[in-house]
Amino acid sequence: MPSGKRGRFPKGTPVLDAARQLGVYIESVCGGRGICGRCQIEAQEGHFAKHGISSAADHLSGVTEAENRYAEKRVLTKGRRLSCQALVEGDLVVDVPQDVQINRQIVRKRAETRVIERDPATQLCYVEVEEPDMEKPLGDADRLLHALEKEWGFQKPRIASRLLPQIQKLLRAGEWKVTCAVYIDGRAEGGGPIVTAIFPGFHNVGCGLAVDIGSTTIAAHLTSLLSGRTMASAGAPNPQIRFGEDLMSRVSYVMMNPEGRAQMTKAVRDAIGVLIAELVQGAGITADDVLEAVFVGNPIMHHLFLGIDPTELGGAPFALAVSDAVTLEAREIGLPINDGAHVYVLPCIAGHVGADAAAVTLAEGPHRADEMTLVVDVGTNAEIVLGNKEKLVAASSPTGPAFEGAEISGGQRAAPGAIERVRIDRETLEPKIKVIGGDEWSNEEGFEKVARDVGVTGICGSGIIEVVGEMYLAGIIDEDGVIDGSLAAKSERIQPTGRTFSYLLWRGDEAAKSQEIKILQTDIRAIQLAKAALYAGVRLLMDRLGLEQVEAIKLAGAFGSYIDPTYAMVIGLIPDCPIDKVKGVGNAAGTGARMALLNRSYRREIEEVVRRIEKIETAMEPRFQEHFVAAMAFPNKVEAFPHLAGAVTLPPRKVLGGGEDGRPRRRGGRRR
Ligand code: FES
Repeated sequence: MPSGKRGRFPKGTPVLDAARQLGVYIESVCGGRGICGRCQIEAQEGHFAKHGISSAADHLSGVTEAENRYAEKRVLTKGRRLSCQALVEGDLVVDVPQDVQINRQIVRKRAETRVIERDPATQLCYVEVEEPDMEKPLGDADRLLHALEKEWGFQKPRIASRLLPQIQKLLRAGEWKVTCAVYIDGRAEGGGPIVTAIFPGFHNVGCGLAVDIGSTTIAAHLTSLLSGRTMASAGAPNPQIRFGEDLMSRVSYVMMNPEGRAQMTKAVRDAIGVLIAELVQGAGITADDVLEAVFVGNPIMHHLFLGIDPTELGGAPFALAVSDAVTLEAREIGLPINDGAHVYVLPCIAGHVGADAAAVTLAEGPHRADEMTLVVDVGTNAEIVLGNKEKLVAASSPTGPAFEGAEISGGQRAAPGAIERVRIDRETLEPKIKVIGGDEWSNEEGFEKVARDVGVTGICGSGIIEVVGEMYLAGIIDEDGVIDGSLAAKSERIQPTGRTFSYLLWRGDEAAKSQEIKILQTDIRAIQLAKAALYAGVRLLMDRLGLEQVEAIKLAGAFGSYIDPTYAMVIGLIPDCPIDKVKGVGNAAGTGARMALLNRSYRREIEEVVRRIEKIETAMEPRFQEHFVAAMAFPNKVEAFPHLAGAVTLPPRKVLGGGEDGRPRRRGGRRR
């Protein structure tokens, strides 16, 4: 358990061997010598009707000397056994705990709590090598390989030629005992296991990096390849911002400056280098212990990181230099980790739908689902995947930065003091708000203190969605998004502003040193343009699959995780769907990267899935415009929202007229 695999074995089979034969991955660094403690398991007690067997701890052979020795030096939690030592003596239900903790690790910030079954591309293997003998003139490296074949069952392993000059020193330093990092995902090198690093003696630390290169932020997680734990996480702004705020301006920078590509590649690699140093130090390991790295990012970030000119991605047909997964060695791109470490970059789905979307797909698994699942990574360029295990389609929509608070008069990034929740009284049109950093609504006791402590500084993405949704539900805006000026007679919150009206959300407060925050007609327009772009993209994918309804929606990314699904539907950002089937899934790109880091079968899975995803270029689709125009309305001019109507009281239809016509943002505007 938890894989549920079962089989029959002769009495006396080590549990570790039984697991291997069943294809269940149990970590082992010492090769079954009872030294590394990585191979821990637990025998369950009791009768398991589901499996039709009775399992008990004494169906395992007695505790061995090696286990006692291990338990003396390190912690062996009660009930745990070393599977290389414990022999099968009877029926057993065996638990493979995913949290084997050997060294106390500093866990600063958990990347995600999801447990990922491990089978990493690089494994640590301890071997004892025969000493040289004049009678048998086999080279040191050859005897090492022989030991790896014999003790670990590797077929024709090789040693990275880079290591040959050091091999004699390393073997002697370890007194003929060494721990090898063996890379077994050798598709890129033409197959076969390859020794990528050698540590003298017994070495029990092996880590990997999972990095999501966003156009604004880079997030990196350091994970133990041996326990699967995230040891430390860190983030930093993407320094490429100084060459261009959004992606297209970075492409332009490359086109205008002969050195532009090299400068931006250097900037992002340097920033990643600094993050690595921080993570490694925080976890108390050395850079040499980092043996694998996985990267994801949108196509432009992906190309710049790999040193590829992204100019072709700046215009139709948005050709990727490489769409398949890329594997290379860390030193080829100057990453300050173990020289032999392998770097794996997830495949890109299309010219606008990158390796980050592939990682989100891997994490959320629409390709494993029966339900028609819509996965949206809401950024300045929304990446959309729709489908189920039968068929998947993908596209991107240039939503622009409105959801991140840009282009909105009182907008700001999600940070303490930002308004994140809004309710408007349907009768009085009075609002109440909540800000990040406080739990109280503004009409509750305690809010004043929050306002004084963290301030009321602006409105973040989720707050904007809610205020617009509430303004619609309260009848302050009509279905075309026009603020109803006639309500000024009813509430002083509705105020003339130039030729249109605005809604006063926060009056400002001298004690809290906050200024007033208004929702302007132009803010509503910006949200309409962004949500219409996203919805139109989704709708095109639904058309392609012949769907009128989706069955589940997953919203990824920081913004997607915080928006209230009901309001996302009220404003028509997403199509109608049972509301309890709409979920924020957090940093799914980071999770997908960690999955590919910890288990190589996930690499094969996403490579295969990406190949069969059908890509749609929204800008080229004739119906985009039509869907866009319908989606400018709240929630939508033509689409029905039956589930939404069952969950909230939608206002009677009202069209005031006089709004400016929204036009879709052109591809080539801002993207994530
Ligand atoms: S494999 Fe190392 S202790 Fe069991």
